[in-house]
Amino acid sequence: MKKIIVAITGASGSVYAVDLLQKLQGRPDVEVHGVVSRWAWENIRLETSLTKTEVRELMTVCYEEEDLGAAIASGSFLTDGMVIVPASMKTVAGIAHGFSESLIGRAADVMLKEQRRLILVPRETPLSAIHLENLTKLARLGVVIAPPMPAFYTQPQTIHDLVSRQTDRLLDLLGLPAEGAVRWQGGAQ
Ligand SMILES: Cc1cc2nc3c(=O)[nH]c(=O)nc-3n(C[C@H](O)[C@H](O)[C@H](O)COP(=O)(O)O)c2cc1C
Repeated sequence: MKKIIVAITGASGSVYAVDLLQKLQGRPDVEVHGVVSRWAWENIRLETSLTKTEVRELMTVCYEEEDLGAAIASGSFLTDGMVIVPASMKTVAGIAHGFSESLIGRAADVMLKEQRRLILVPRETPLSAIHLENLTKLARLGVVIAPPMPAFYTQPQTIHDLVSRQTDRLLDLLGLPAEGAVRWQGGAQ
């Protein structure tokens, strides 16, 4: 069983998190340890048609943001990777400065100290120098910075196409490539 932590924070783009969770739910070899921040719940309400219960049901375990005694708060609990999708600039700043006030920040801090895979999907525009410095600091520590930037060479037809191609890339980064993912096969003139 692979144990993947999926954290959702209060940036716009909760649809990416929901799509990723739906894809992971179809993988019998994956346990999803989820955490959703207070403002992420608000964005899920604004941006999707899912209830809290429906989002929780997409996870194997859903921890409370304040639960610093949760399994994923300790490095002794072995996990195979963590993705924060979407990642707010507040959460990015907290991780870049080791400020582990919530379970999301603490779990990310654990990934850094244990040198495990951490993937951030930061969402903000425009980006200030503070945002860029925090992201650069984390990239230098080996964190994968994967902003949701659509590729148009695959000719997406719907918003779902755009979202799904981004979450397929996240699955690649987690070492769980999706069957049927759209991949460039060459052919540029
Ligand atoms: C509708 C809405 C959209 C937001 N979008 C963003 C965003 O795209 N990026 C961002 O960094 N913060 C965004 N915020 C602000 C964050 O929610 C806020 O900074 C919050 O404190 C983040 O906390 P968290 O990281 O613990 O979820 C948004 C807030 C709201 C209410």
